[in-house]
Amino acid sequence: MSLPSLHIGDLTASKAVVQGGMAVRISMAKLAAAVANEGGIGLIAASGLKPPELVENIRAAKKMSKGVIGINVMVALTEFANLVKAAIKERIDLVVAGAGFSRDAFKWCAEANIPFVPIVSSVKAAKMSERLGAAAVILEGKEAGGHLGTLESTWDVLPGIVDAVDIPVIAAGGILTGGDIARAIGMGASGVQIGSRFAISEESNAALAWKEACMVAEPEDVLIVQSPVGLPGRALNSPFVKKLMSMDEDAPKEKVKCVKCLKECKKNFCIIDVLVKAQQGDLENGLIFCGERIGEIKEILSVKEIFRRLVEEYDLATRPVSTYG
Ligand SMILES: Cc1cc2nc3c(=O)[nH]c(=O)nc-3n(C[C@H](O)[C@H](O)[C@H](O)COP(=O)(O)O)c2cc1C
Repeated sequence: MSLPSLHIGDLTASKAVVQGGMAVRISMAKLAAAVANEGGIGLIAASGLKPPELVENIRAAKKMSKGVIGINVMVALTEFANLVKAAIKERIDLVVAGAGFSRDAFKWCAEANIPFVPIVSSVKAAKMSERLGAAAVILEGKEAGGHLGTLESTWDVLPGIVDAVDIPVIAAGGILTGGDIARAIGMGASGVQIGSRFAISEESNAALAWKEACMVAEPEDVLIVQSPVGLPGRALNSPFVKKLMSMDEDAPKEKVKCVKCLKECKKNFCIIDVLVKAQQGDLENGLIFCGERIGEIKEILSVKEIFRRLVEEYDLATRPVSTYG
């Protein structure tokens, strides 16, 4: 069978694959446009950017692709409202938001007739999102990279959410292959969101050192850190993580100019600073967010080739088994 399409509000993506927004500056215009050009939905990660840089990326992505381009942004940011409003002004195709819940964002997007898609990890949040007018929900399980809303598996949470809402449910966390997509769609998902596999693509904006560090990871190298956002985050064990884990709470912290990026910050370290350092290739001092299965990705491929493989794998996984010898 061929990979199905995905309908969110009035939008149609010919392939039911959303490229997860990945901050800071991992999923920018080039990656989002490449995914949209293959028929998926490309998301520019807005978190950690100021509105002018986001606008520049939206315009660049739209120049490179006529496909579906959205933004992903964390509600926990002080810049949240400015980023969403800037994207709406640019007539972005959809807004995806995680790490918090914003009733305002439902309203802003509804007024602009732009689909709003919250990231959820429970039946309760999915139902509330539907009631407030979400066009779809992304269910993110514990296998996902970055901030986590649950420590339960995508596969365990998905059925309850599919049963609870009538809007499309997009499964995220631990999806690498077309076989995984077939499994999610077989369980009632309307599509999937993939992060890690696209983070290690040619078009990803992560430094080569970042991608190479991920590709040699063993399963035990991927662990959970406590982010200043107030949520657990899935990341690669790195010199910075080792330092963080062994840090005495009262030890003097590296001085970083605080730009008050979070509405509430635990101040155990500066999340923007360490994500930017990693994205630029400073693996000694940076934090690499990554999904649980990152070490299974062994090649840096173009987005075109990733889609070719996903389509082929999906077809193989959904072929009826012949009963003839
Ligand atoms: C490097 C990286 C950065 C991420 N940043 C964000 C982000 O800014 N906002 C967000 O909602 N999710 C973020 N995520 C989660 C992804 O969008 C996606 O849902 C998740 O990675 C899916 O799991 P997978 O990596 O197993 O495919 C990030 C993931 C990674 C790997």
